[in-house]
This record gives sequence, structure tokens and C-alpha cells, in this order.
Amino acid sequence: MQAIISDLHANGEAFKMVLRDIESLGIDEIVCLGDFIGYGPDPKSCIDLALDFNIVLKGNHEEALLEEFKATNFNNKARAAIEWTREQLSMLAEDKKQNARRWDFLGNLETVHHVGDVTYVHGSPRDPIREYIYPRDVYRPKKLEEIFLDVKWVCFCGHTHVPGVWTEEMVYLSPQDMNHRYQLTSKKVIINCGSVGQPRDGDPRACYLVLDGDEVRWRRVEYDVEKTVRTMLQQPQLDSFLAERLRDGK
Ligand SMILES: [Fe+2]
Repeated sequence: MQAIISDLHANGEAFKMVLRDIESLGIDEIVCLGDFIGYGPDPKSCIDLALDFNIVLKGNHEEALLEEFKATNFNNKARAAIEWTREQLSMLAEDKKQNARRWDFLGNLETVHHVGDVTYVHGSPRDPIREYIYPRDVYRPKKLEEIFLDVKWVCFCGHTHVPGVWTEEMVYLSPQDMNHRYQLTSKKVIINCGSVGQPRDGDPRACYLVLDGDEVRWRRVEYDVEKTVRTMLQQPQLDSFLAERLRDGK
């Protein structure tokens, strides 16, 4: 079994509870599809928790942190959170040794990972870091058809914070549509594992995916949302909107 997680977004409380859930299932292989940081209050602990994962990919928030000029589509709130994160990881800070290790980790993240016909990305297979695949894209068949050209069999992604399955027949299925599980067949599919640290599908619980043979299962994990909200509200550089949306998972 393999756990696939994404979009932790510096939410240490959510991350901790998800790791506990993964452990309770006896899973020891963890794949992380990026966006450890950005938005939330615990960038250091989220990076530290991911240091030993089997596969770790770069998200657009890591890219924005590492290569500022690429953060062209970041709104002011997201940009301010990145700047705050940069201050936390300062090489002038007391824990500069640990921060050097964290920058090394961020600088060595993979962009795409392939295992046979299975692809792992943050965004999409044709633009691994930045492209979003939304449920509404089933009404934009050209976009999805082009993306599917780069899918060999199964492509796991994150980035939108909205879990689900996209098929080549232009169908989007939410986890609720499938009783939170999906059986892989020979057909090509794109599967979004959802977001651990900032879910946006209307369910505030942390979301991740378990790959068990030919079946994938989405897991929802309760965590102390109010604790994360409180910590965020104490940081003026983290916009209160980013904190309050955690309560509704939107
Ligand atoms: Fe994200």
C-alpha cells in the first residue's frame, strides 16, 4: 500500500494527524505531490516531516519560494505568505543549520516521477508544477484530451485541492460519487488525492489517498482546525481569509 498526499500548505496539525492515520493503516510508503509550504503557519515542521518520504515533488509554492520571478499568478495573500515563509527559513535565523538542510531539501525536489505507467505530478502531466485540472474541465474536452496524451495509464496529481477522478470519456467523479473508492482498470485516468492542509471541496477534514493494489481510497482525517486558525491569526502576514477558509474547507 502507498499513501499519496499533497498540498500540506504548512498546516502542521493536519499533517500530523494524516501521518498518524497512515501509520494506523500500516503504510510505510509515502509519496508527496508538493506544496508543503505556503498559506499556513508551520513551514518548518511540514518540511521536516517530509524529509524521509519515498517520493517528494515540487509544487508551485515551492517554486515560488525558490524562483520568485515564476510566481506570476500568485495573488497578494499567497505572495505575502511566501514572503513570510522565506523569513522563517532565513539563513540568518538561530536555527540556520536546520534551515540550510530545509533549503537543500526544497532545492532537490523532483518535478515528475514515473513508476512504470504511473505518473506522479503536482499539477498536470504536461505542465507538472502549474497547470490546474478542475472538475469543470470536462466541459473543455480539448484541454483534457491534450492532457491525456501525456498520461500513460494513471496520473496522480494535487494542486486544485479538489479530489476526484477524470476519465478519457470526459467524466469527473468526486469521491462521494464513488463511495470514496475507485477501482483502476486498463483505462487511462487522472486522480487527484485532495489536500491535507487546505481542502477546498467543502469538507474541512484533511484529505489524502491510499493506493492498495488496483484500488484507490480517499481518507478524510479530523484535525484541530481551530488550533491552526488561531496560530495563523497571530501572524499578521498570513491573511485572515487563508485561516478562516479552513473552517469550511473552501
Ligand atoms: Fe496547493
